[in-house]
Amino acid sequence: MKPIRFFAVIAVLVTASPALAQTAASPAALDGKSLFRIKTCVACHGRDGAKAIQNYPDLAGQDSKYMQAQMAAIADGSRVSGPDARGYPRTQGMKDVMHLTSPEERAAIAEFLASQPAPKPRPLDPAPDAARLTAGKDAYLKGGCATCHGADGLKPLATYPLIAGQKRDYIALQMTEIRDGIRKGGKVATMVPFAKKLDDAKIGLIADYLSQVERAPK
Ligand code: HEC
Ligand code: HEC
Repeated sequence: MKPIRFFAVIAVLVTASPALAQTAASPAALDGKSLFRIKTCVACHGRDGAKAIQNYPDLAGQDSKYMQAQMAAIADGSRVSGPDARGYPRTQGMKDVMHLTSPEERAAIAEFLASQPAPKPRPLDPAPDAARLTAGKDAYLKGGCATCHGADGLKPLATYPLIAGQKRDYIALQMTEIRDGIRKGGKVATMVPFAKKLDDAKIGLIADYLSQVERAPK
């Protein structure tokens, strides 16, 4: 985590919330925005749900119903991730704060996040060349991913996650943990047979490609 940015977030939380609440467009959006900021979510997900930590998901622009289902699954423990550097599931910190939100509040937060503009793709280091991106797209198509996630990951089936432009390391981790049976619950079972056909190298290739797909502005 970049400390300067973190403190900037806190400063905004403390100083700007009332002013922002007055300028929000609809009651639902207003509520969700304030709730997202006061229920500790910003500490891990960034001010508008688009934080730079590579293995935490971007939430800005994600499908609202999908996010509601994932919040419930993380809260009730049916979605658990693999371990972080200290050996705790990456989902643990979030699970610990989810009791602060009711299902209605989560729905309002999800509506707010879904309406936020998606971040621009993050540059990768090393930057994949054009040939690697083309190979990644090819593997995505051959892997059958487009059936559920749409062309270039941009048009998923209803309530399925938008994966285009998501963070590279997050994409790779989720594909790996879905394949290996670590991430269960939700509608994940439908994807498992497709994920099982991929080795780590293919997952890396597809993750490089998907992370660099730019989403259209809302
Ligand atoms: C301590 C850090 C932390 C806090 C606080 C936190 N989250 Fe999370 N959240 C995560 C991590 C890490 C993941 C991804 C877990 C994984 O890798 O499987 C996640 C996943 C999610 C997802 C699923 C995204 C997807 O693409 O599947 C949603 C939605 C979400 N968080 C919303 C929230 C909201 C809303 C709050 C506040 C009420 C919140 N989170 C608080 C760390 C946090
Ligand atoms: C049969 C439908 C289906 C196919 C095919 C499929 N997926 Fe998925 N995928 C899903 C569903 C449903 C989820 C969300 C699971 C849940 O409800 O928790 C998901 C989740 C994901 C996630 C995690 C998203 C997040 O925000 O956490 C990634 C990344 C992903 N899929 C990539 C792929 C790739 C790459 C392929 C091709 C190899 C693929 N999927 C094939 C249905 C599918």
